[in-house]
Amino acid sequence: MEETTLLVLIFALQISAAIAADSLTINQTLTFNQTLISSNQTFKLGFFTPTNSDNTRWYLGIWFNKIPTQTIVWVANRDHPLLNSSSPALKINNNGDLTLVNQTNHVLWSSSSSINTSNRVHSPVFALLLDNGNLVIKQQTSTDVDVDDSNGYVWQSFDHPSDTLIEGMKFGWNLKTGLNRKLQSWKSSDDPANGDFVYEIVPNGFPEPVLRNGSVKLFRAGPWTGIQYSGTPELTNNPVFQPSFVFDNEEAYYSFKSTDGSVISRFLVDSTGSLYRLSWNSRSLQWVVLINVLKDQCNKYGLCGVHGVCNIDEAVVCKCLKGFEPKSPEDWSSINWSGGCRRRTGLNCSNGVGDDGFVRFSSVKLPDTTFTWVNMSMGRGECHVKCLMNCSCMAYANSDVRGSGSGCVLWFGDLVDIREFTAGGGQDLYVRMAASELEAQPDGSNKKKNRAAAAIVSISVITGVLLVASIIWCFIVRSRKRQRGEGDINQEEESTRDLELPLHNFVTVANATNNFSHDKLIGEGGFGPVYKGILQNGQEIAVKRLSKNSGQGLKEFKNEVILISKLQHRNLVRLLGCCIQRDEMMLIYEYMPNKSLDNFIFDKARSKLLSWEKRLDIIIGIAQGLLYLHRDSRLRIIHRDLKAANILLDGEMNPKISDFGLARTFGGDETQANTRRVVGTYGYMSPEYAADGLFSMKSDVFSFGVLVLEIVSGKRNKGFYLSGNDFNLLGHAWNLWNEDKANELADEMFTDQDVSSRFAVLRCIHIGLLCVQQRPDDRPTMPIVVMMLGSATANLPQPKHPGFYYERSFMDEGQSSSEKFSYGNKVSFTQLEGR
Ligand SMILES: *[C@@H]1O[C@H](CO)[C@@H](O)[C@H](O)[C@H]1NC(C)=O
Ligand SMILES: *[C@@H]1O[C@H](CO)[C@@H](O)[C@H](O)[C@H]1NC(C)=O
Ligand SMILES: *[C@@H]1O[C@H](CO)[C@@H](O)[C@H](O)[C@H]1NC(C)=O
Ligand SMILES: *[C@@H]1O[C@H](CO)[C@@H](O)[C@H](O)[C@H]1NC(C)=O
Ligand SMILES: *[C@@H]1O[C@H](CO)[C@@H](O)[C@H](O)[C@H]1NC(C)=O
Ligand SMILES: *[C@@H]1O[C@H](CO)[C@@H](O)[C@H](O)[C@H]1NC(C)=O
Ligand SMILES: *[C@@H]1O[C@H](CO)[C@@H](O)[C@H](O)[C@H]1NC(C)=O
Ligand SMILES: *[C@@H]1O[C@H](CO)[C@@H](O)[C@H](O)[C@H]1NC(C)=O
Ligand SMILES: *[C@@H]1O[C@H](CO)[C@@H](O)[C@H](O)[C@H]1NC(C)=O
Ligand SMILES: *[C@@H]1O[C@H](CO)[C@@H](O)[C@H](O)[C@H]1NC(C)=O
Ligand SMILES: *[C@@H]1O[C@H](CO)[C@@H](O)[C@H](O)[C@H]1NC(C)=O
Repeated sequence: MEETTLLVLIFALQISAAIAADSLTINQTLTFNQTLISSNQTFKLGFFTPTNSDNTRWYLGIWFNKIPTQTIVWVANRDHPLLNSSSPALKINNNGDLTLVNQTNHVLWSSSSSINTSNRVHSPVFALLLDNGNLVIKQQTSTDVDVDDSNGYVWQSFDHPSDTLIEGMKFGWNLKTGLNRKLQSWKSSDDPANGDFVYEIVPNGFPEPVLRNGSVKLFRAGPWTGIQYSGTPELTNNPVFQPSFVFDNEEAYYSFKSTDGSVISRFLVDSTGSLYRLSWNSRSLQWVVLINVLKDQCNKYGLCGVHGVCNIDEAVVCKCLKGFEPKSPEDWSSINWSGGCRRRTGLNCSNGVGDDGFVRFSSVKLPDTTFTWVNMSMGRGECHVKCLMNCSCMAYANSDVRGSGSGCVLWFGDLVDIREFTAGGGQDLYVRMAASELEAQPDGSNKKKNRAAAAIVSISVITGVLLVASIIWCFIVRSRKRQRGEGDINQEEESTRDLELPLHNFVTVANATNNFSHDKLIGEGGFGPVYKGILQNGQEIAVKRLSKNSGQGLKEFKNEVILISKLQHRNLVRLLGCCIQRDEMMLIYEYMPNKSLDNFIFDKARSKLLSWEKRLDIIIGIAQGLLYLHRDSRLRIIHRDLKAANILLDGEMNPKISDFGLARTFGGDETQANTRRVVGTYGYMSPEYAADGLFSMKSDVFSFGVLVLEIVSGKRNKGFYLSGNDFNLLGHAWNLWNEDKANELADEMFTDQDVSSRFAVLRCIHIGLLCVQQRPDDRPTMPIVVMMLGSATANLPQPKHPGFYYERSFMDEGQSSSEKFSYGNKVSFTQLEGR
């Protein structure tokens, strides 16, 4: 260990002995094994050979000096490697240019190749590697010659980026000189030559960054809206990351700052065409992808064609803008959206007169701005008129959304690459529409469908608003805390006491869980790991941590935060707080020492701890929790994933329903909905949901019925096996019921019950069978179930045959009961007709 350090030291000393630390003067040369190191040691300039290459190609580059994984941020001779490493040299020639020559004195790279030589300054210069990673050529005699925006440098590497954008660099244009600072990928991970992928700002009209593969557009980030790019709300500023955009007559560029000096962050266009924001994690000593900018389908440029809108939260991501219809309905329905949409009703505009108007689309990423016109000081009213008066103006928007909005952008021609955000982001876009479309109402025949769709859309919009509000709220709370100074625990507790969803600090949660150590892991959901933790005040908590790479998980997380923060019932697990910080999202619950119900009822030893009375209490508790969700809570909620593993038990074995990741809210008189994405747990899903995606409160009732039969029998429905037949637990219970032997279903421990207990067990089985009936209409509602459970005398109807009581063997090949599955196509299940 010490030896290595010593060696490194000696090596460093050798180099620094060879060359003055951070600069190179005229007639000095930098040879193969020498480097320049910036004055505070942050960056290093030297020769490197890419990892995995055969050491035959050498490049001059700049990398982070203190980061152990060599991370090249700039390459000089990208397309002209040095083939013989024995004596390449970098020097400043008599013209004042940095030049890289090989052994035979061929110039492989020169700074002059990238500057306008008529601007050359003929006075002594030197090269200097700055602490921000910028290699500059400076005049020796400090002067006030300001060559454009180059800070007085004769030349700087920041003006000629490679594939990486680091703090302090400008990404974009000097509109006066025509300098375009763009990122271009490496050809491959071991070849820094110019690759196919270019990320640059297109300066036409309202400027916006575009990622291209050769000449093909792959992705637009959208124009800058004053706080972020219109299409990448995830890249917005946060407490440590502050992006900005300058757009005036002289410049159009993006840059970013880290407010926390310890955070090293960079953007990278990699050789596969991905665009990332990465951050150096000094704990795990690796680069972590904070944001994969292109991660979802809707980022694909023009996926939905002209006048199409992409929404990643919809089952079918593309739809036409309202007032438009698919150009080719056949292509459209076969998931080929590239043809796009056309107007349902043509425009009626001639020289500014006509009766067209505008329809507002909210929370959208603005369309491609290649053919736009912009005035940053015009107001929306003026903008509206300006667009209305010009028949080729198809849409307008504010160019800056801050405050009540300002500035004016007009679109000419087709609108391409619009996306719609349901969870925050985007802005208003006003699209020109024929007068008759402005007041168009959904026609009568479709009214019902539309209403259902509208209900779901409005729910997701509300959900989005709530989420944005809660995130904003989280930030407000945090900044308030900042202002008051953290560390004062009493004060902190005071401020969160009366809030619906207290915010926890990442550090607090990390400390509570021993830095998410493996031995604190108590579960693993589809959502991410669950840890046990202890807060400083001694309170035990369970922390659900969202896996960073689960796109679906993020959605479920948001769903859960919004739903559960509004719910309070003693049979629902209590959310104590959330933690949204950097890219971490976590939910903090009260800790349930007895874990989940399935740990007891399906375990031979532990099931003895659950007496019949206790089981009945648990059944009634679950029923009451469910009743609250269905009827009494402020939101009407369908849980959709009720199962033994989602029933947690507190210290007194009181049941608490948990895991609202899949839950859906329902408005007013809505009772049923349809989903393309069937998710849930096999064995608990009702037939109409599993096969047709139809879910309603009655599908929760079905799951509840399964749960009741499992609690009574101590057997799992899924994977139930009785030699000689293919019935599952429901089928088995149904058979016993018809043979008048239902009592045999009860867990062995009940066999010598007294008569009244026996009667109660029978009644529970009866209610369970009523809940799992095939037809949703036959199943009782939760209020009726609670009533039936609470009364020993109320008359119960005879159950009809249950759904899914015959289990085909392929359905059960040892998958765990918590396995989730989803399918888009209709799957048919074999049913055995009941007698
Ligand atoms: C650099 O070298 C040239 C030729 O050897 C010499 O004329 C010149 O004075 C030197 N410049 C400096 C700054 O040493
Ligand atoms: C590296 O530098 C040392 C002295 O600093 C020198 O003796 C050696 O020849 C150099 N090696 C190469 C390959 O340039
Ligand atoms: C590289 O340079 C060394 C020293 O001049 C020479 O011996 C060697 O043959 C060269 N290698 C190649 C591949 O040109
Ligand atoms: C120097 O570069 C030139 C031009 O690329 C090349 O022809 C020559 O072979 C190179 N010399 C060495 C020793 O690599
Ligand atoms: C170089 O700069 C001069 C004056 O600044 C300008 O007139 C000329 O057009 C520029 N040349 C190029 C190739 O940009
Ligand atoms: C080195 O300089 C850079 C740029 O000025 C600065 O961001 C960084 O904090 C400095 N690092 C140290 C260790 O002083
Ligand atoms: C980029 O374009 C090339 C050919 O032009 C194609 O083979 C490749 O698949 C494209 N890559 C991406 C990521 O679009
Ligand atoms: C999609 O539709 C367009 C025209 O609308 C057609 O040119 C293209 O071939 C179709 N692509 C596929 C994969 O069918
Ligand atoms: C177009 O607008 C003019 C002027 O408002 C109106 O007279 C005419 O009926 C409109 N035509 C159609 C097809 O709507
Ligand atoms: C932009 O709009 C403002 C306010 O209407 C106006 O004064 C200004 O002349 C406009 N600028 C351009 C370039 O049209
Ligand atoms: C409409 O706007 C376009 C693009 O700015 C312009 O070329 C055209 O002259 C305008 N037409 C009228 C009637 O103002």
